[in-house]
Amino acid sequence: ARKIIIDTDPGQDDAIAILLALASPAEIDLLGITAVAGNVPLPLTESNARRVCELAGRPDMAVYAGCDAPLSRPLITAEHVHGAGGLDGPDLPDPTMPLQDRHAVDVLIDTLRSEPAGSVTLCPLGPLTNIATALQQAPDIAERIAEIVLMGGAYFEVGNITPTAEFNIYVDPEAADIVFRSGVPLTVLPLDVTHKALVTTPRNDAFRALGTPVGLAVAEMTDFFERFDKEKYGSDGAPLHDPCVIAYLLRPDLFSGRHINVEIETGSELTLGMTVADWWGVTDRAPNAMFIGDLDAQGFFDLLTDRLARL
Ligand code: BDR
Ligand code: CA
Repeated sequence: ARKIIIDTDPGQDDAIAILLALASPAEIDLLGITAVAGNVPLPLTESNARRVCELAGRPDMAVYAGCDAPLSRPLITAEHVHGAGGLDGPDLPDPTMPLQDRHAVDVLIDTLRSEPAGSVTLCPLGPLTNIATALQQAPDIAERIAEIVLMGGAYFEVGNITPTAEFNIYVDPEAADIVFRSGVPLTVLPLDVTHKALVTTPRNDAFRALGTPVGLAVAEMTDFFERFDKEKYGSDGAPLHDPCVIAYLLRPDLFSGRHINVEIETGSELTLGMTVADWWGVTDRAPNAMFIGDLDAQGFFDLLTDRLARL
């Protein structure tokens, strides 16, 4: 199984990504979960991560708290999408499993140094603050990371927090810039693909029909989470952004994209946090990312529903 660390700011879609990983032990060896401030402040994201592990029957999973604010900007949150608690919808109990006391950034660095080089994949599902801080503090880890597979950015689909920026990149554009310039192999799941992973009513009914606490909680999460996109974009349901990262690890054949140059706008106020993706190869800037543009949405939902049934 592939060793991964999920770096996350749960978030209903983050939660479903964690569940998908925990449901797939044959392919994914989840070494730990590092929480970051994003959708909601850090105390909520780390406790939500623990809530999700307990929902999955995995109170043994190690959850670490990381950075509570972006590298050089005040935190921007997304309660307007995810609710005041970040994981609104299901009524999940307060977690009783412990928060580990080491800092997430130290854990990222130590894990990458102690595991064989090229064996650990990082899966960021929120702002890139923890990952960039680890790369800044320990530049030697860059060449030890197998790959970074992240949810963030947008190109044809433009933005969801500003007209040109996607939330995870916008919240900490300096951190994103560090990651995109790091030389680490990157795979990027932008809004262009995640806005195609929509939970339509029959798909949500399929979660509920699992008849398990996990199936019901996921249905309630997407019921809550979809309001924003239905009202804002007139879409058919909630886009499952972050689960696309885990689905990509499990079934890359469901996705397609291009290996291109992607740079992060950090200077302009108007387009701050934009992922400037050279999709058409109109510059000679070197490719640094596999930028995913499409997925087999029904294949994705069949995979997700089948895996969630195992929890
Ligand atoms: C991203 O922002 C968050 O609100 C979601 O959890 C996802 O990671 C989508 O723009
Ligand atoms: Ca997220």
